[in-house]
Amino acid sequence: MTAAKKLSSLVEYNTKKRKNKLVSMPPELVLAGKGRSAYVFKYNEASEVKALKVFFPEYEEIAKREASIYQLLSGSKYYPKLYESGPSYLVIDYIEGHTFFECLLKGVPISDEMINEVDAALQEARKTGLNPSDIHLRNLIVTKDKEIKVIDVARFTQTKSDTQWEDLKKAYYSLYKHPLFPKKISRIWLEIIAYLYKKKMDSV
Ligand SMILES: Nc1ncnc2c1ncn2[C@@H]1O[C@H](COP(=O)(O)OP(=O)(O)O)[C@@H](O)[C@H]1O
Ligand SMILES: [Mg+2]
Repeated sequence: MTAAKKLSSLVEYNTKKRKNKLVSMPPELVLAGKGRSAYVFKYNEASEVKALKVFFPEYEEIAKREASIYQLLSGSKYYPKLYESGPSYLVIDYIEGHTFFECLLKGVPISDEMINEVDAALQEARKTGLNPSDIHLRNLIVTKDKEIKVIDVARFTQTKSDTQWEDLKKAYYSLYKHPLFPKKISRIWLEIIAYLYKKKMDSV
């Protein structure tokens, strides 16, 4: 059994009412983030910092799909490298930086260059025949060297078109760039905007 497989087996979720709360984790792991389908942890392996994504039971199937998509994207500087995958987990590069969501929370400025780099990242994925989807603020990371990394690629094989990134870009150029628009936004506002956007999208 690999170290990552052992660590992932020690992560325990309370799956009651599909809430998927983290109940326990081994001391080698540090919590890095939570999404709809998994918790992500930071840990050291062979003196490298890696990310271990451990999926919730009902999303285990996605682990396999996401691993094969990361394989297709290997070689692109815009995506974390995949090291290992198992029935319910993935090991990828840990990306030190801020998600675009955190940039808005902390007031870290978002620039035209960052937006253009995301476009370049998505273009690279399209060249391999993928359909970049689910591109939102929590799935985009900017490093301290201003490099852009796109994570959470599981939905890149869906055929349905997804306008989230185009909508975010419109909001960036028409709202965010306006001199009077606040560059630091409170969590509650961001959560309300994300909630209203999702509600609108679900109704079309
Ligand atoms: N490779 C990584 N490096 C650093 N942080 C990460 C990495 N992968 C995920 N995260 C953090 O964990 C959160 C959830 O991960 P994500 O892959 O988006 O899960 P989900 O598929 O459930 O949305 C992200 O929004 C981000 O904050
Ligand atoms: Mg995500």
